[in-house]
Formats: sequence, C-alpha cells, structure tokens
Amino acid sequence: MSSATGAMRSEVRRILFHASTILSRLDEMAEQISADYTGKELSVIAVLNGSLMFGADLLRRLDMPLRLDCVSVSSYHGASTTGVVTFNQIRLPDVRGRHVLLLDDILDSGHTLHAIGDKLRHETDPLSIKICVLLRKDVPRQRELEADYVGFDIANEFVVGYGLDYMERFRNLPYIGVVSDEAIKKYAPKS
Ligand code: IMP
Ligand code: MG
Repeated sequence: MSSATGAMRSEVRRILFHASTILSRLDEMAEQISADYTGKELSVIAVLNGSLMFGADLLRRLDMPLRLDCVSVSSYHGASTTGVVTFNQIRLPDVRGRHVLLLDDILDSGHTLHAIGDKLRHETDPLSIKICVLLRKDVPRQRELEADYVGFDIANEFVVGYGLDYMERFRNLPYIGVVSDEAIKKYAPKS
C-alpha cells in the first residue's frame, strides 16, 4: 500500500461497504434494470463526478443497447449542500423520445436530482425519467423525490470512497466509508 493510500485509510472512521459487497449489489441492480427496460431504448445520464465508479461498474453489467451521456453539477460546500445546483455545461443531452435513467452516487437532500430532472423535462421531451442511486441517505428530503433503484440505504453520516468525495478527496478509495471528524476538520473549506 502506498503511504498516500495509508494516510487516506486512517482518515476513514468505519468501512460501510467493501468493494465485493458493492459489486454483488450491482449484479442484482443490473438484473432488475435489464428486466425493466427489455425492448426499450435506454439513455443513461450519469451525474459527474460522484457516479463515475458506480456508472462504470453498473453499465458493464447491463446486457442491452444504451446511450451514455454525462452531466456535471455542483451544489456542495464542504459536507453540506448549498441547495443551489450549478450546471457546469450549457446544454443537457438531447433525450427527446427516449427513456432516461439518471445515475447518481447518493440521494441526500434531493436538490441535485430534482434540478436535473426538471431541466431535462423542460429542455427536451424524454419518454420517461427514472432515478438510480447507489446510496440513499436517511434524511428528510428538501425536494420531493423518489429513487426507482437504490443500492444501499445508509444513516445520516458523511461517506466517501468509490466516487464519493469530501472536498474532492477520497474518490479513489475502492470501498465506501465514513470520513473521520478529524479529516472533516482538516480539509474543511476556508470560508
Ligand atoms: P443532494 O442534492 O443533497 O441530494 O446531494 C447529492 C449530491 O451531494 C451527491 O451527488 C454528492 O455529490 C453529494 N453528497 C451528498 N451526501 C454526500 C456524502 O455523504 N458524501 C459525499 N457526497 C455527498
Ligand atoms: Mg460531491
């Protein structure tokens, strides 16, 4: 193990899901998604950067034709949402007349997926939009929003790894864990 990875590991208080647990759950999710979309034209829209690992592993398990697009948004400042979702590109993918599966790493307040869903409905005219998240946090949603596919339900803790970040760190951990209070303080935004 490199010293960099070792330092990262000591900043994770508890591991919630090992890589093997995540991958077996993705097998099940992929089976369900493939069954639900049989005979349909699917457009997957992955929300970057958090869903990079999740999307890569899930999509390789889907045995069906699909299109892949990505959108990039930000709404987080440190470990809490600002509630304002900023789109980092001018146009969303054109999904007119297609079934859309929105992929994100985690459903927390609901602001992010609500904003993307709204913009997609206004800008293009998809046949349907479903939401697929790896994690669903047990918090009251600030936006009314239900996920159609959920990998794991988790408590209200700040988690990192397997794509999820704290201040752009920890995305490359192969597992998902709870970041330590010390690390939260150490890397906290200056303002
Ligand atoms: P929402 O808009 O509050 O639902 O949050 C969704 C986004 O916030 C996710 O795509 C993540 O980027 C980020 N997020 C929410 N909770 C966590 C967490 O526990 N760890 C890392 N990122 C999180
Ligand atoms: Mg993030």
